[in-house]
Amino acid sequence: MSSHSGPRAVPVAELTPLEARLEHDALAREVAAHDVRYHGEDAPIISDADYDALRRRLEEIETAFPELKRPESVVEKVGAKPSEKFAKVRHRVPMLSLANVFSDEEATEFVDRVRRFLDLPAERPLAFTAEPKIDGLSCSLRYERGRLVVAATRGDGEEGEDVTVNVRTIAEIPQVLNGPDVPDVIEVRGEIYMRKDDFAALNARQEAAGKPVFANPRNAAAGSLRQLDPAITASRPLRFFAYAWGEIVGERPADTQSGMVEAFARWGFPTNPLMRRCGSAEEMLAHYRAVEEQRAGLPYDIDGVVYKVDDLDLQRRLGFISRSPRWATAHKFPAEKATTLLLGIDIQVGRTGSLTPVARLQPVTVGGVVVTNATLHNEDEIARKDVRIGDTVTVQRAGDVIPQILGPVIEKRPADAQPYAFPTLCPACGSHAVREIDPKTGKEDVVRRCTGGLVCPAQAVERLKHFASRNAFDIEGLGDKQIEAFHRDGLVTRPQDVFTLAVRDARALKKLKDREGWGATSAANLFAAIDARRNVALHRFIFALGIRHVGETTAKLLARRFESAEALRDVAVRAAGGDAEALADLTSIEGVGPVVAEAVADFFGEAHNLEVLAELLAEVTPEPPEAVVSEGEFSGKTIVFTGALERMSRDEAKAMAERLGAKVSGSVSKKTDLVVAGPGAGSKLADAKKHGVAVIDEDEWFRRAGVGGAA
Ligand code: IVH
Repeated sequence: MSSHSGPRAVPVAELTPLEARLEHDALAREVAAHDVRYHGEDAPIISDADYDALRRRLEEIETAFPELKRPESVVEKVGAKPSEKFAKVRHRVPMLSLANVFSDEEATEFVDRVRRFLDLPAERPLAFTAEPKIDGLSCSLRYERGRLVVAATRGDGEEGEDVTVNVRTIAEIPQVLNGPDVPDVIEVRGEIYMRKDDFAALNARQEAAGKPVFANPRNAAAGSLRQLDPAITASRPLRFFAYAWGEIVGERPADTQSGMVEAFARWGFPTNPLMRRCGSAEEMLAHYRAVEEQRAGLPYDIDGVVYKVDDLDLQRRLGFISRSPRWATAHKFPAEKATTLLLGIDIQVGRTGSLTPVARLQPVTVGGVVVTNATLHNEDEIARKDVRIGDTVTVQRAGDVIPQILGPVIEKRPADAQPYAFPTLCPACGSHAVREIDPKTGKEDVVRRCTGGLVCPAQAVERLKHFASRNAFDIEGLGDKQIEAFHRDGLVTRPQDVFTLAVRDARALKKLKDREGWGATSAANLFAAIDARRNVALHRFIFALGIRHVGETTAKLLARRFESAEALRDVAVRAAGGDAEALADLTSIEGVGPVVAEAVADFFGEAHNLEVLAELLAEVTPEPPEAVVSEGEFSGKTIVFTGALERMSRDEAKAMAERLGAKVSGSVSKKTDLVVAGPGAGSKLADAKKHGVAVIDEDEWFRRAGVGGAA
């Protein structure tokens, strides 16, 4: 579903400024959308790990290209959202995480590894504790002379958030520790969680009050703890289990893990009743199974069993590997499954027009969470599993990712159940939805996409942003925020509306003033900026339309070949109607393959896109491209610019080369004809040497391009 999850091929250091900006824009939007789902709605649709990967990439890009940072950058806003609210606390002893094992074999291997590391003879006993892994959020409670002074979340393990005032409202957490063996300073660590019944009741209250419900008890606990107003935390039923510790100043109350937990219990902390001391891997596994059997009936969510070496001296000897202790591991439960009825299949339209099927299920509890929706991924997946509406299906939920449908229970299929017919029209706008053919593999894309780019409400805002963006219409003052506001107010819902804004001036201005606090001057400035773009380069106009697969380069090729929007439209409309000659006309352009030609034809084949085009052309005048020098030294050549260019921007260099009939590429291969290198050129220069490609400097480039003159 997410176009940005998973490893990215291009290291940030190798991104061009343009690539960086495009990726940054897309990522920022994606992260913001996930933030809303996670924080606002407590209904995440991707795993924490995938989300973290997205944010890391965004941060890397912003570090490498600081100019992309916006005041409202999500990296700062959401990263800092808690920090605006809560002070930071540096953990004196880092809060670590646990390694995982997923099978009996791996658990046994963990025990063997510990023995090998300590070089223990087989007859020497070795004890472990085994206890449930609570699905909540960990917290470190610092007591000085027996008094609670600071409570902090885990954060990144090194630094967390100060949630002391909120934690003071949790009845189960003692404010004062009593006992002869309480050290001068002790940080007691454990899990803050919410019981399943309390979670259900809270959600019922939320729903009754028209407030968003939480996806699961863990999100509810996290959301309740991280409240600016401690009164809200106080009204939420949070609980605690103590199972670990951080800094201790003074005498440690015990020499074993189990002894420490017993001390915590004596001092007034809740500790988990299912902790056992085990003398062998067999006993540990037996306890794992016993806990697993009780899991569904436990009042709180757990997702595994944690094994810890009991002897604290041995723990110290074992130490840590990177961020997790060598002396502990979490034996995770397999994903939970349940069966339920498939009531229907909803089609969601993403911002790129992708149609995603979502299963609507009869509500069913899977691992303590009520599931009503599950992903069906795509059309092929539905066909492959032959899932039909009315089927009883198996649903699986693993961790916090969206539940999945494993398949139908065939024996329970109703006699009249029909195979699912995936819609070929977009449910949001009625345009055709198509699957593209990958030119390399010849295979159909798994995703079906709406072709109504400009008119599809599901895609409208993103398309409008693209329309006004720097490499398209480049309208100063009409940034993402303005577009969102205009769209919200219904002032701009289609591209052509941008150019009629001033005519509808009175209404526009009033709304701007009311909602955005704009003055008359800024509105007048915007109208002037819009007017300034009524004459626009044809390739920008084509690029702005947002035709799939038509990036800047392709837009330029099309502009050069057709020289007017009308000419392009006429050929594309014929191609869409099945005119083979017209299609061949498109593919005959060097650099335009069948995929692009198909996408262009699909776009102009939609009546509403033609309507947008006509109305746009009534407002703006695309200008044909400057004549290209066809017989010059550089025509047909492939050129790579690298290093710091001092006399021109990279965009300018590109435009210059293209005017001279050359193609600009981002990487050097044996097909490259020329490399123009500025200071600091690195790997691309090395590649040029390797492939025997000619290298010149910027001055030489200007001389040969015939634009000489002083630098
Ligand atoms: S021990 C040095 N015990 O799991 C190890 N952690 O993946 C400290 N957790 O951040 C953790 N139940 O939030 C430990 N019985 C338990 C646990 C537990 C839940 C969580 C905790 C920690 C995460 C590590």
